[in-house]
Amino acid sequence: MGKVICVANQKGGVGKTATANNIATSFALEGKQVLVVDLDSLCTLTKANGYDPAKFETSVASVLENPQKVGQAIYESDIEGLSFIPSSPMLDALELTLISKKDKYARLKKALDKVKPIFDYIVLDCTPSLSTFNINALVAADYLVVPAETKYQSDFSLEVFLSTFETMKSTLNPNLKLLGVVATMFNGQANEDKEVLAEIQSKYNLLGVIKRTTAVSSSVKKGKPCVVANRRTVVAQEYREITRKIMKMVEE
Ligand SMILES: Nc1ncnc2c1ncn2[C@@H]1O[C@H](COP(=O)(O)OP(=O)(O)OP(=O)(O)O)[C@@H](O)[C@H]1O
Ligand SMILES: [Mg+2]
Repeated sequence: MGKVICVANQKGGVGKTATANNIATSFALEGKQVLVVDLDSLCTLTKANGYDPAKFETSVASVLENPQKVGQAIYESDIEGLSFIPSSPMLDALELTLISKKDKYARLKKALDKVKPIFDYIVLDCTPSLSTFNINALVAADYLVVPAETKYQSDFSLEVFLSTFETMKSTLNPNLKLLGVVATMFNGQANEDKEVLAEIQSKYNLLGVIKRTTAVSSSVKKGKPCVVANRRTVVAQEYREITRKIMKMVEE
């Protein structure tokens, strides 16, 4: 059965999409069958893989509307073993229509339960909020990975988000496990970054450290994640290493 990994943090711009995309692709490079799901109406992950969201007839919005039809929203990428569910700008409008539904938080789980047998890993890229969609992701997930920038404000947002995680565990998803934190956009020359990294390391399981580098934005321009577009860079190697660490943790 596929393992569902949610990449989330309520704070914006901390490298969630870069982490979800590089980890999902790295699982595929390790020979796994992988599904990556874009849950952001801005379609950041879909576009970072070189795809135009307007070209897809079905998307994560159709999955949330009708979980039974999840198969129709899964597309094969041009990376072997990697499939994806694109997002859609229609997603935000859907939130209003879902609000009155009894199963509004369980829809993604219903959909993913149907396809879990055909994937080894399902990776969910969340938005920086606690929207209906992110709650759907936290309900559907087995594991949580939290990217956090090595900046002073990260400490507080990590605490806020991890209290959300505890609430999820005690309410909607008792099976959710925290794998750890990925420190992102690390600048080894800055005292702030070094202090915050030490703080993160003392409090949480640190999965890895991703340096601040233009390799990430240049790979977005190339329409493929770093681990493919800039695979010889330090950041690509680190994402591969983090992925292997996660595989060890969840396959034990
Ligand atoms: N290691 C890095 N070094 C430099 N830039 C990075 C790095 N990781 C991500 N970025 C850039 O920072 C920006 C935010 O990254 P990303 O989109 O992954 O964050 P996010 O947490 O998903 O944002 P949002 O909250 O808007 O969904 C993007 O422009 C991305 O290219
Ligand atoms: Mg994002």
